[in-house]
Amino acid sequence: MNKALRHAVIAGNWKMNKNRAEAKALIEEMKPLVKDAGCDVVICVPFTNLETALAATEGTNIKVGAENCHFAKSGAYTGEISADMLTEMGVEYVVLGHSERRQYFGETDVTVNQRVKAALEAGLKVILCVGEMLEDRENNITAELVAMQTKIALKDVTKEQLKNVIIAYEPVWAIGTGKTATAEQANEVCALIRDVIAKVYDKDSADAMTIQYGGSMNAGNAEELLAQPDVDGGLIGGASLKAKDFAVIVEAATKG
Ligand code: PGA
Repeated sequence: MNKALRHAVIAGNWKMNKNRAEAKALIEEMKPLVKDAGCDVVICVPFTNLETALAATEGTNIKVGAENCHFAKSGAYTGEISADMLTEMGVEYVVLGHSERRQYFGETDVTVNQRVKAALEAGLKVILCVGEMLEDRENNITAELVAMQTKIALKDVTKEQLKNVIIAYEPVWAIGTGKTATAEQANEVCALIRDVIAKVYDKDSADAMTIQYGGSMNAGNAEELLAQPDVDGGLIGGASLKAKDFAVIVEAATKG
């Protein structure tokens, strides 16, 4: 497997943080710090900040993403946002299947698959999250579980569409807990996901696939994680809310 065949992508996942003024201030602070990035830089922000983020990043190397979208094109889905609504605004990326959506909002592998297909059909790039709970790791079923999540989420996604998918391996026990997977654990599961892609699609697709690690990645541990052969970037929660820390992670991804 050759890391040079794929793009490193560092994506911030702001979750439910920042009002519009705070979003604008954070982006303005971030812009000069990441302008020479040798990797793709994405910020995934709350729906209410998309317009602000799009305006503030115009003409820069920072791409904007949403944190979820619905699978229907339109209709009676109170409180939801469709993929077409996002592309119409100029949004390029969307995070799907985040463990917080699965844990707190009842999303399943099947609804994640529906959302992935809708997003890809609308022309969005998808950051698809998979990852095991602590209990799964202790029961030694991480490999099976992550393989199953990946396969179901990508059901009926074509090889061509797959080029617009990034997978983020996020062990649930490492998210927001300060407990990071070791570089070896992160690499092991990212490699395993790549094997699943090779089996379901083919080796070229697997070689080209960007697979991120996420879960308490920060300015201190990013370099070691991102130096792993199968870790092609990061999905960053807490540390993406601090411009300087985020920039250090971008710098580490640039080094690879
Ligand atoms: P964290 O979140 O970096 O705060 O652990 C990562 C994520 O949930 O995407």
